[in-house]
Amino acid sequence: MQRILTIIGARPQFIKASVVSRAIQQNDGIEEIILHTGQHFDANMSDIFFNQLNIPRPDIQLDIHGGSHGEMTGRMLAEIEQALLEHKPDRILVYGDTNSTLAGALAAAKLHIPVAHVEAGLRSFNMQMPEEINRILTDQISDLLFCPTSTAVQNLNNEGFAHKPVQVLQVGDVMQDSALLFAEQASAPADDLPEGFILATLHRAENTDNPERLASIVAALNNINATLAPIVLPLHPRTRKLIAQHGLELNVHLIDPVGYFEMVWLLDHCELVLTDSGGVQKEAFFFGKACVTMRDQTEWVELIHAGANELVGADQGKIIDAANRNLGRKVQDTLQLYGGGRAAERIVSELLKAGI
Ligand code: UD1
Ligand code: UDP
Repeated sequence: MQRILTIIGARPQFIKASVVSRAIQQNDGIEEIILHTGQHFDANMSDIFFNQLNIPRPDIQLDIHGGSHGEMTGRMLAEIEQALLEHKPDRILVYGDTNSTLAGALAAAKLHIPVAHVEAGLRSFNMQMPEEINRILTDQISDLLFCPTSTAVQNLNNEGFAHKPVQVLQVGDVMQDSALLFAEQASAPADDLPEGFILATLHRAENTDNPERLASIVAALNNINATLAPIVLPLHPRTRKLIAQHGLELNVHLIDPVGYFEMVWLLDHCELVLTDSGGVQKEAFFFGKACVTMRDQTEWVELIHAGANELVGADQGKIIDAANRNLGRKVQDTLQLYGGGRAAERIVSELLKAGI
């Protein structure tokens, strides 16, 4: 029986890990220990996902959040190392590109514990993004690199991974597994919502921490809400703080962050998705909706090539034009870009094959 220690800490990681944990439980060959770093800690940013998605309670609960990137990552590194020494896993499993991902991978690599990385190979080629640093470094110290897309495999090949003693495997995207698995449990948020709404999310540091970009996006959203269609926006705590700090007014239908079942309902019922989230770009696609992405680059370039997603950056005029062009537009996944919902199964089968 191999012992795998899963390290998660931020909202999207709970959603990704839920389907892999479920696949692990259906298998006798792996024992999973879950470590939650505490990076996200509000009930509606963390607990709700464990409850809704039936994720086993963390065996190890750290309480590390806030502070600078270095401080947060450093504290995680020290405390994860202790947990690894105590629990002696055969391998660790990390997801995506947050500070919890990098801290977990680095703590394990320093102890010579092999690292499996889910969502390996994604690149924005923008080293100003904390996520880009986290994912590049995590890939460098992983030996099982689970890529969601052919572009991710290509990115790793371009960085010379084909010549390293590691396995680069295209397994599909675990977020498609989650979307398919939980779609039936969609449930409307408790809030009173307008008809024909646009679903928006906004939280990335490159937008929220840059006052000009944030002001421009807020102006665009206010304009769209007033002239095109009502916007429903579950507001990330980071954005709530920064909007208040900069004295901005977001005049759209703001709601608190919602659980995954409510998010899936919103995705299913909206007329358009407007976002800077990585995960939500793909979920728009899984639910057949066009997406306007308020970033300068995306790691999910196949959505752009398929005409499902438009990249507009933070420019007020471009955001408004793209929303007008795309409202109500449906998109179709004819090419099965993300593996069709079997990524978790493939990951578990590869973990078993690897033996450690
Ligand atoms: C993190 C990830 C980002 C990911 C996002 C998912 C890094 C560097 N960034 O960004 O890649 O897209 O998670 O949502 O790891 N906060 C709360 N309550 C919470 C969670 C956060 O109040 O439950 C506050 C924090 O105290 C902090 C701010 O929100 O002030 C940002 O949180 P942090 O985890 O540092 O970064 P995210 O923006 O959430
Ligand atoms: N999500 C959610 N509730 C919300 C907003 C987002 O459940 O109020 C889900 C969303 O459906 C997706 C994931 O959180 O599965 C995306 O996380 P986020 O946008 O925070 O991070 P990113 O994907 O950009 O790293």
